[in-house]
Amino acid sequence: MTDDLVAAEAGDDELDAEASVRPRRLAEFIAQHRVRDQLELLLQGAMGRGAPPDHILLSGPPGLGKTTLANIVAAELGTSIRTTSGPVIERSGDLAAILTSLAPGDVLFIDEIHRIAKPAEELLYSAMEDFRVDVIVGKGPGATAIPLDVEPFTLVGATTRAGLLSGPMRDRFGFVAHLDFYSPADLDSLLHRSARILGVPITAAGAAEIAGRSRGTPRIANRLLRRVRDYAEVRADGVVTEETARAALKVYDVDALGLDRLDRAVLRALIESFRGGPVGLSTLAVAVGEQSDTVEEVCEPFLVRAGLLARTPRGRVATEAGWLHLGKTPPSGVVQGDLFARDA
Ligand SMILES: Nc1ncnc2c1ncn2[C@@H]1O[C@H](COP(=O)(O)OP(=O)(O)OP(=O)(O)O)[C@@H](O)[C@H]1O
Ligand SMILES: [Mg+2]
Repeated sequence: MTDDLVAAEAGDDELDAEASVRPRRLAEFIAQHRVRDQLELLLQGAMGRGAPPDHILLSGPPGLGKTTLANIVAAELGTSIRTTSGPVIERSGDLAAILTSLAPGDVLFIDEIHRIAKPAEELLYSAMEDFRVDVIVGKGPGATAIPLDVEPFTLVGATTRAGLLSGPMRDRFGFVAHLDFYSPADLDSLLHRSARILGVPITAAGAAEIAGRSRGTPRIANRLLRRVRDYAEVRADGVVTEETARAALKVYDVDALGLDRLDRAVLRALIESFRGGPVGLSTLAVAVGEQSDTVEEVCEPFLVRAGLLARTPRGRVATEAGWLHLGKTPPSGVVQGDLFARDA
């Protein structure tokens, strides 16, 4: 995934680059106005009362700002943040150790909270609700529960799969924020901000060109900006313009809608080899020489969201927008597809 320029997930070597442009305060956080407003009220209300705010659940696809917001919550509250993640909490004792070491008012950030093991999840319930945990010492009939106090804290949970969270878990969050994909205009502002921080000169048309190819995702926008900056510095005068953005993203095979080579191969196979479908997933996957899983999980979600491909009971079909994107005339009766209809 690391070398995939339009992957929504962060590459292993990307954390430092991301940290340099990560907003630290709510006022710097671009767009998502509804979530920002609600969070501001929640945090200011709590600070006015001098008590930690309700537990916060942040849900949404990768790269939209969940980790960023978790850190902003702590910064706005002026407290420290402890960060862990669902998969690394293997035993409930690990979690108990973290919980009992929190200082009053601390933020505990649990990333990928849907992947927390069941015993740890149950321990978390009492910590969230009553600020206490029962630590079990010993085994069998001799086992005893030792109740331990936990300082009042705020749990911030993040998940890309809110549907996988158990009901009791979800109910214990007083505030749930769902992050949506960003509009090109939002990504445009984000790119100007990042360029300013990185000291990269960028024109309005240059930012717009990158914004349109970023799949509604800040992480991808920032990554494309870094690649275009390389190109502008090496092959041009260092300024990110419409021309340098286009030329650079051609080198990296990211097209005008943000499709990469494999995405286009899938769309092209669907249209050229199967006349636009319907065709089954595995047949389509064989045609592009990929695993079905890869086509289904890596390519299709974006092709569907972009309105280029539709999943039907009879198989995958290319939409009118899909045909047009490849510069081909759609046959009559083709499935309509609005470009990014659901983003509107
Ligand atoms: N609203 C925003 N304004 C400015 N920058 C943003 C915003 N949202 C995200 N970013 C930038 O995008 C990058 C990715 O954001 P972040 O790491 O918070 O995403 P995430 O939702 O935690 O992703 P994942 O699900 O992969 O953990 C960060 O480097 C951050 O700088
Ligand atoms: Mg994150």
